[in-house]
Amino acid sequence: MTLLEEPIAAAIGAGLPLEEPIGSMVVDIGGGTTEVAIMSLGGIVTCKSIRVGGDSMDESIINFIKKRYNLYIGESFAEQVKINLCSALIGDKNVRMNIQGMCSFTGLPKTISVTTKELAGALKSPLNAIIDAVKQTLEKAPPQLAADIVNNGIYLTGGGAQLDGIDRLINAETDITVHIADNPLDCVVNGTAKAVEHINEIEKMYKGDFM
Ligand SMILES: Nc1ncnc2c1ncn2[C@@H]1O[C@H](COP(=O)(O)OP(=O)(O)OP(=O)(O)O)[C@@H](O)[C@H]1O
Ligand SMILES: [Mg+2]
Repeated sequence: MTLLEEPIAAAIGAGLPLEEPIGSMVVDIGGGTTEVAIMSLGGIVTCKSIRVGGDSMDESIINFIKKRYNLYIGESFAEQVKINLCSALIGDKNVRMNIQGMCSFTGLPKTISVTTKELAGALKSPLNAIIDAVKQTLEKAPPQLAADIVNNGIYLTGGGAQLDGIDRLINAETDITVHIADNPLDCVVNGTAKAVEHINEIEKMYKGDFM
């Protein structure tokens, strides 16, 4: 049985030149984890996985709103707030959204109206953890591969890649171009499918040899 590592699948799904002697970097921001990997010649050269992803962002939003507005909101609503209202950067996006929850003083339902700017800082801790993981992985890259990554950019995959401004934030922190993969949510699945096709070809080749 061949085990396909998730960052490899994500890189294949993102269409990166994985088989070539070129360094590629993928940051896969999922629900439970973020996987940062530098790959070359079809393998992982260095990687870091942290238990921080979209779920931690939702928790961060819940805590921020609890502290600042004395309002309890649930996890699935926090996810909607993240997707529709939040941004990784204070900047272009500024929308307003009604947030419904339970008042921590009265225990009664309460609705507040909040803007993107007012929630700045809500995602600070998970975003810092992701940036640290990216920087630490880059620091471990052999110089030639680091140069490739500077030239070709960092690729973001996973649902968290769709967070508004996350590409610009990582660019601002690393000075490297950041690309969001096409269909970032499907990269791992698409990459796995492509790899399976490839594995079948290889297996057929071997069968031919042995028969
Ligand atoms: N537009 C969006 N903005 C911000 N986050 C988003 C957006 N769309 C999806 N997400 C988040 O992406 C996450 C899911 O991503 P994904 O499907 O890649 O994770 P997963 O592969 O299931 O998790 P893991 O890789 O940790 O096992 C969820 O936390 C979801 O809230
Ligand atoms: Mg995933």
